[in-house]
Amino acid sequence: MGKSDGGAIRLDKLLADTGRWTRREAKELLRRGRVTVDGSVERDGARKVCAGECQVAVDGQIVSWQRFRYLLLHKPAGVLTATEDKRQRTVLDLLPPEDRDLFPVGRLDKDTTGLLLLTDDGALAHRLLSPKYHVDKVYEAEIEGDVDAADVAAFAAGMTLSDGTPCLPAGLERLGEGRCRVTLREGKFHQVKRMLAQRGHPVTSLHRVAMGALTLDPSLEAGGFRELAAEEVAALKGE
Ligand code: URA
Repeated sequence: MGKSDGGAIRLDKLLADTGRWTRREAKELLRRGRVTVDGSVERDGARKVCAGECQVAVDGQIVSWQRFRYLLLHKPAGVLTATEDKRQRTVLDLLPPEDRDLFPVGRLDKDTTGLLLLTDDGALAHRLLSPKYHVDKVYEAEIEGDVDAADVAAFAAGMTLSDGTPCLPAGLERLGEGRCRVTLREGKFHQVKRMLAQRGHPVTSLHRVAMGALTLDPSLEAGGFRELAAEEVAALKGE
């Protein structure tokens, strides 16, 4: 929630970012002298406070807040996973202006839908994407043909793509005729599509349902997003 300037954040934004009060309610709390910073009443919502350095309280109750922001987006088809593009809409265009300083963790193809995490926490992004940390990314694919035991074995053994790109062992599960679930621990360019195509099953649609401990809420419509709960952030961090 604070930005990279050492975690400094406006007091009124900090209160609203906790999700417990709206901006308007936060301003009212401040106006009524119910907010303290390090024990002294503070009425100025523009006052900058630093995560981990100042103690903010409302009615004497300490307010804890996250330094970083985490949004779960249900990416629709037709938008780029990028922070800007001159011609095409990006995932950031789906967010309100105040959230457009976040960046996507990893990349989904333009036609791929599903779970996309956006954050300003670079350390967590690195951890989630690095094969070293073995964070599973789970996809559901519609394909031509049907996967069989030989396909499952090939995925499990670790495939080498036709251009020589080596892939780590991956999970493949048949979900029904022409449908399968793929679990990867890395995110190479078009990886799911290339692996399945190489096995003779071109992908006709691809949807990501999970990344590590984080799963896409079935109730979140394409284009919808929400803040992660503190427990979800902790689980992603392996805490
Ligand atoms: N693999 C793909 O081929 N495409 C994606 O968007 C994600 C993983």
